[in-house]
Amino acid sequence: MYTEKVMDHFMNPRNVGEIEDADGVGQVGNAKCGDIMKIYLKIEDNIIKDVKFKTFGCGSAIATSSMATEMIKGKTIQEALELTNKAVADALDGLPPAKMHCSVLAEQAVKSALLDYAKKNNVYIQGLENIK
Ligand code: FES
Ligand code: FES
Repeated sequence: MYTEKVMDHFMNPRNVGEIEDADGVGQVGNAKCGDIMKIYLKIEDNIIKDVKFKTFGCGSAIATSSMATEMIKGKTIQEALELTNKAVADALDGLPPAKMHCSVLAEQAVKSALLDYAKKNNVYIQGLENIK
């Protein structure tokens, strides 16, 4: 049912934890199941220098959180903003259809953390207008 990559990122999630002096923090809940993801970003010169996450949720939520952090680390803000839940699921070689909603958590948490960063630093990030 789950791909090897999903199992790997579930059993050995990358970038778990917190960043105490994070530049942006985002927390989102999944309306469908109540699972929660919190993400911490360290941003310097428009680059995601570090990222950590904590997910209180199912295996697919943990695996997609882990993969999403790997995919945005070292990338620009704009690149991180373009990360879609589908791209994260694809990078894990797919998720069962019933578990696709779990991958939405990571995409939304990244956007929410970027919005927090934008607010705290008074910067305008194109593409964040519709995120709350
Ligand atoms: Fe908890 Fe499925 S949501 S076991
Ligand atoms: Fe809730 Fe997966 S079942 S995020």
